[in-house]
Amino acid sequence: MPRTPLIAGNWKMVLDHQQGTLLVQKLDWTLKDARHDYSAVEVAVLPSHPSLRTVQTLIEGDKLSIRLGAQDVSAHEAGAYTGEVSAAQLAKLGVTYVAVGHSERRQHHGEDDAVVRAKTARALAGGLVPIVCVGEPLEVRKAEQHVEHTVGQVTQALTGLSAEQVAGLVLAYEPVWAIGTGEVATPQDAQEVCAALRSAVAEQFDQASADAVRVLYGGSVKPANIASIMQQPDVDGALVGGASTDAGDFAAIVRFRD
Ligand code: G3P
Repeated sequence: MPRTPLIAGNWKMVLDHQQGTLLVQKLDWTLKDARHDYSAVEVAVLPSHPSLRTVQTLIEGDKLSIRLGAQDVSAHEAGAYTGEVSAAQLAKLGVTYVAVGHSERRQHHGEDDAVVRAKTARALAGGLVPIVCVGEPLEVRKAEQHVEHTVGQVTQALTGLSAEQVAGLVLAYEPVWAIGTGEVATPQDAQEVCAALRSAVAEQFDQASADAVRVLYGGSVKPANIASIMQQPDVDGALVGGASTDAGDFAAIVRFRD
């Protein structure tokens, strides 16, 4: 079965709920004007936690086909964890996707592979689809260890899951040196790692889950570079940061086939 491309916008801590709802409205108008087929290219936005409810109300009220994602989830199921947000709470709000292990969380919030694994499992148990993010820092790329590094991160994150669970989730390759820097990986760089991650899934689980799992690229994706990235056979979409906070740019990225 062909994998449906997914273009997901990670707003990070940039847009508030008013800016977020305005962006979603503009995005949907632009895509509908262009007769975008949401079933052919799936679109998701990942607002900050306080904006989820407002964006969800808009999506539900206007029956939009845009999916809602969160940027993080607790590794704990429920209980006395001040400041944490559980997978069940997100799922109840209509959230479909959740980013796990983003490099900004690994870098600034001390999340290691064990935490990423716990969050991935917890997201799945709570009914969410994790977008498991991996990527190498510049020194690892310079040492040409990027494939080993990212495959290691994925292997750690997926340990303990079933092949069926893995088939339904999303991986995102985001080289740290390409995030917010304007320095985009070449399409060949993206393909090399995305293909290696898929092979690693085949080895750790089975070929069917490797064929089904979607692998995104993230890191300075813009309207000008998305088409060549999406031409790569193992790239199934994009996790977009900066450009997803502009409705016109994000719509142009979603319409990468035009
Ligand atoms: O999660 C998306 C990301 O980290 C890439 O950000 O701003 O380089 O598109 P950006």
